[in-house]
Amino acid sequence: MRRPVIAGNWKMYKTQAETHAFLDVFCPLVAKSKHCDIVVAPPFTSLDVAAQAVRGTSIAIAAQNVHGQREGAFTGEICARMLVEIGCTGVIIGHSERRQYFNETEEGVHRKTKAALEEGLTPIVCVGEILSEREGNLTETVLQRQFEGGLGALTPAEFSRILLAYEPVWAIGTGKTATPEQAAQAHRYLRELAAVRFSFEEASALRILYGGSVKPDNIKGLMAQAEIDGALVGGASLDPRSFASIVNY
Ligand code: PGA
Repeated sequence: MRRPVIAGNWKMYKTQAETHAFLDVFCPLVAKSKHCDIVVAPPFTSLDVAAQAVRGTSIAIAAQNVHGQREGAFTGEICARMLVEIGCTGVIIGHSERRQYFNETEEGVHRKTKAALEEGLTPIVCVGEILSEREGNLTETVLQRQFEGGLGALTPAEFSRILLAYEPVWAIGTGKTATPEQAAQAHRYLRELAAVRFSFEEASALRILYGGSVKPDNIKGLMAQAEIDGALVGGASLDPRSFASIVNY
């Protein structure tokens, strides 16, 4: 049985004061929610405030990006050790917005995943096709390329520590969710890739989150699919009541 994970990706939203205000409302609403792992991913500048505010709760804090090197002359970048020090336990890697607007590649995803794992962070690695790829029947080709390029060179022990997020790009921020069946089909394919590259056991234990317009009113249908082990939520994670009701699906 895979333990569900509900993660909120705040993107470039929320100052420190807004982070405080969110968590003041959100933490009590999920205080009794023991059925899943809860993750909140604020922007870098709010990580410290968030990590302090969730102390003593079961909520984990993740960053939205990390550099692939241990340290160095990389102006404007943040490394995994810095994230660990301020209380992060996870990091989102290879989000489609990073791939699309910041030229992130499979090779970069691989390096970042390794760097995060080396410092004990849980990488939440995102994969997913754009609309033209889905319409051109290229979904599986794209997922295979992203899976193998980003994760294929991990050791089985490393692979067992990651979370995978399937986020069809056409469903992100568009209000267009993949149907539970479409999502489950992609998840099944990703699990097959994991079984081929690693092992049946690794593949069965892998938790795959769905992301793309997850809302309080569609989470139940998504989570009813045995293949879907959780959600990576953008817009609907910005409001504490909306995100709590997704957590408490
Ligand atoms: P959305 O974003 O829920 O706003 O579609 C999901 C994501 O980008 O992780």
